[in-house]
Amino acid sequence: MSIHISAAKGDIAPIVLMPGDPLRAKYIADNFLTDVKLVNSVRNAFYFTGQYKNKAISVGASGMGCPSIGIYSYELYNEYDVECIIRVGTCGAYTTDLRLFDIINVERAFSESTYALHAFGIEGDHLYHEGKIYKAINDTAAKKGMHIIKGAIHSSDIFYRAKPGTPPIAEKNNCVAVEMESFALFANAKYLQKSAATLLTVSDIIPTHEQMSSADREKALKDMMELALETVLDF
Ligand code: HPA
Repeated sequence: MSIHISAAKGDIAPIVLMPGDPLRAKYIADNFLTDVKLVNSVRNAFYFTGQYKNKAISVGASGMGCPSIGIYSYELYNEYDVECIIRVGTCGAYTTDLRLFDIINVERAFSESTYALHAFGIEGDHLYHEGKIYKAINDTAAKKGMHIIKGAIHSSDIFYRAKPGTPPIAEKNNCVAVEMESFALFANAKYLQKSAATLLTVSDIIPTHEQMSSADREKALKDMMELALETVLDF
């Protein structure tokens, strides 16, 4: 067991799907996996391991923000021999070119965060997905005729801010949407030479204040989960 995860080493699969919310992890396990076993509940950060079409998959929560996903993904890669983590989250769109339910496969994450610098000496304001999983997701989407957006996003440390509008780092780098975790996930994967990708469903359009209803969120999750799960089947 690691400091924040109490699972036995072999209880976590080499591939982990990582939503932010522990109850979302439970929903995914209950609705998409079979033979499900709860392997961690320290701090209620539920991790489950089960089967998807006879492939072992784990699903567990990252919590919110770079510090939180930084801890969970580091321990999974470093102490549980996890090879690939796919974050499956939601994001706010900075542009009305995006619509609710759109799915983004994150090519790179821009951030004001100093996580990568102070953890590993990795300089710069952006990090790419790591390994072959990003391309595998794009290939699966193409094969299934699913429309997804590939592009840059903003991994922000801030949810509530005094000044509305798109922050300078996002404006300057054409970040289409904002979330709060990918930069730290990609930093850990880069440092530890593992695979990492982020799939995001647009849950709100920031300029117009449009938001998904909670019923909508379930359906939106379904498309994104199927894309992630069908991709990892051959991975
Ligand atoms: N900001 C940051 N993260 C988010 C948002 C947002 O507006 N929506 C969903 N995740």
